[in-house]
Amino acid sequence: MSAPEPDYVRVNRDHWTKANAEYTDRRAEHAWSEDEISWGVWSTPESEVNVLPDVRGKDVVELGCGTAYVGAWLKKRGARRVVGVDVTPAQLATARRMNEQTGLGLELVEANAEQTGLPSASFDLAVSEYGASIWCDPRKWIPEAARLLRPGGELVFLRNSTLSVLCMPQEGKVTTSLQRPQRGLLRIDWTDPPETEFQMGHGDLFRILRASDFEVIDLVEIFAKDDSDDHAHYSYVPADWAKKWPAEEMWRARKRV
Ligand SMILES: C[S@@+](CC[C@H](N)C(=O)[O-])C[C@H]1O[C@@H](n2cnc3c(N)ncnc32)[C@H](O)[C@@H]1O
Repeated sequence: MSAPEPDYVRVNRDHWTKANAEYTDRRAEHAWSEDEISWGVWSTPESEVNVLPDVRGKDVVELGCGTAYVGAWLKKRGARRVVGVDVTPAQLATARRMNEQTGLGLELVEANAEQTGLPSASFDLAVSEYGASIWCDPRKWIPEAARLLRPGGELVFLRNSTLSVLCMPQEGKVTTSLQRPQRGLLRIDWTDPPETEFQMGHGDLFRILRASDFEVIDLVEIFAKDDSDDHAHYSYVPADWAKKWPAEEMWRARKRV
């Protein structure tokens, strides 16, 4: 029997339903058409970050896929099967429209990424770009990713850097001073707009990964480029800040054989 839906799932679904109407639907076509895989606020190319395994012939699940452009990029790179999981029907509607338009053949599933209902040991790669990686409780979604992966399968995800979260005030942009304690860092309830994120320090996250049968094989901190400007939409982190400190980070972990 599935557990009742946590309060934050409803809050975040409402948030992403609005975001879909405001900008994600409009941007999907461009995102799906990109040939190069890139990550995060400043579109850092995968060729610089090098966190993805070869996906040719592999089965991939994207956890918190949104409009599923990351899944689309991986299918174009030769993945055999790509399943996108998201909890927001509006985001999935955009993903489905793009999937039909491009004929890429993604499978799109409406579910909480903490409890997908998909069969165990059915994927070689689980990926999340600011999806489950920040919107789901790591004590739930990381064990779920481990369950979905075959032995030797990999988990790759992008999230805000811990330093940027510590310097993020309750309202306004990332600053150059500490704004919240790292001790006990886990759930952050933002109010304007209402949304709930999960962020935790490196040691805690490292231990959850290890306890879920993963070996951490890389942690790449991402900076803005010298010529980067503030992002038009994700302006919560100033480019000048991110040129000095890493604003984002990518984790790569492998499920023990
Ligand atoms: C920033 S988007 C990331 C996805 C994708 N990279 C994109 O930008 O379109 C965050 C997505 O996480 C989804 N999400 C939030 N909570 C979720 C949950 N509990 N389970 C599955 N998806 C969730 C939201 O619906 C949203 O589509």
